[in-house]
This record gives sequence, C-alpha cells and structure tokens, in this order.
Amino acid sequence: MGEDARSVKLQCLALACSPRKDGNTALLAREALEACREEGHDTEFLYLADFNYFPCRACDGCFNTGKCVVPDQAGTIFEKILAADRFIMAAPVFSLGICAQAKMLIDRTQQFWAAKYLLDRHVPGKPSRRGIFISCAGTTLPKVFEGTLQTVRYFFKILDIDLAGNYCYDGVDKKGDILSHPRAMRDAGRQGKALVRTEWQD
Ligand SMILES: Cc1cc2nc3c(=O)[nH]c(=O)nc-3n(C[C@H](O)[C@H](O)[C@H](O)COP(=O)(O)O)c2cc1C
Repeated sequence: MGEDARSVKLQCLALACSPRKDGNTALLAREALEACREEGHDTEFLYLADFNYFPCRACDGCFNTGKCVVPDQAGTIFEKILAADRFIMAAPVFSLGICAQAKMLIDRTQQFWAAKYLLDRHVPGKPSRRGIFISCAGTTLPKVFEGTLQTVRYFFKILDIDLAGNYCYDGVDKKGDILSHPRAMRDAGRQGKALVRTEWQD
C-alpha cells in the first residue's frame, strides 16, 4: 500500500439505468454510492433516463475514427463513466435481458470496440477503473439474470473496467420491494465500501 493511499480521493459514479426513478435498482445503487461517500470519496449519481440518446445506427461511422458520429448525449455519459475511478451500474431485468435503456447505451460502445479492435487504440480515461453491477428481477426463475450478465460483462470489457462483482436480487418486483429484502440494502453498503477499499490493496 502506498503511504498516501488513504488520502486518495476517488471519483465514484453510479448510473441507474431503469426508467423507474427511485426503483429497486436505483435504491441499491444509491446505497452503494453513499458508502463510497462515507469513505471520503467524490460521488455522482446519474439517471440514464435524464439523458437524450439514441440507439446505434450501425452506420459504421466510427470504424475509421473510433468516434461515434451521432450527435446526442451518449458521449457525455461515456465521458463521465471513463472519468470515474469506480463505477456502479444498476439495471433491472426486462424480458429476460438488461432493460432496453441500458442496452441502447451498451450498443453505443461500438465506437470503443472499433477503436480497440479495428484501430488498435486504448480506451481513454482513468487507469485502473473498477466497478460493480447491481440488478433486480421480479421473478425467481432459474437463470433469470443470465442474459443480462452476459451483456454487462461485454460492456465492462469493452470499456476496460474491471468488473469486481455482480449483485443480483430475484423476487423483487414492485417499486420499493428491495427495502424489505432481508439483506440487499445492507449488502449494497458493503459492496460500495469494498469497491473503494480495494484501492488500498493495490
Ligand atoms: C417491461 C418489463 C419487463 C420485465 N421483464 C421481467 C422478466 O423478464 N423477468 C423478471 O424476473 N422480471 C421482469 N420484470 C420485473 C423487473 O425486473 C422488476 O420489477 C425490478 O424490480 C425492476 O427494477 P427497478 O425498480 O429498478 O426498475 C420486468 C419489468 C418490466 C417493467
């Protein structure tokens, strides 16, 4: 551990991707982020629903430059994600996959895919980025998170963010149900703390 490790202020970002504000996944993300703040770090909470962005057009416009040609706010969201040392992403399961709002953003990483794999460039932003993913599903069907997690692993890999953990809660459906879960909210606080404390073990 470096001598100044504890004085390092990390930039921590939570992105709540559900269209349901103050819904189950947003509550968990806030709790995890609050733990980062309590540990002395800078925090920012964003609702994806507050941004104006569109699906990938598959125009291949990023293939020569590594930059997306669509002039919307997806670029702002990516700038914030890549400027963060720690990233908390929260999104529910919709129709057995990640909610469309999150998927739409994930498809827009095509520009980073092009930069990395066609143009041999690094993803810009902070080095040693690390994050966690949080999700909820209304049912308790086996493998209900499988599709979502596959997509999330892809997202973190393309953005060069180390995915330190997935925290998924099933049987959580109505808005606020997560508050009666026996351990989820407490665990979210622990996950947030662990996310920033892992810095000290580097
Ligand atoms: C359009 C839609 C599709 C959904 N599809 C599923 C599903 O396939 N499987 C499931 O278990 N829950 C499904 N749910 C339930 C949500 O995953 C659940 O309500 C979750 O707690 C929502 O989290 P939020 O409050 O953060 O939005 C769906 C909900 C909506 C609105």
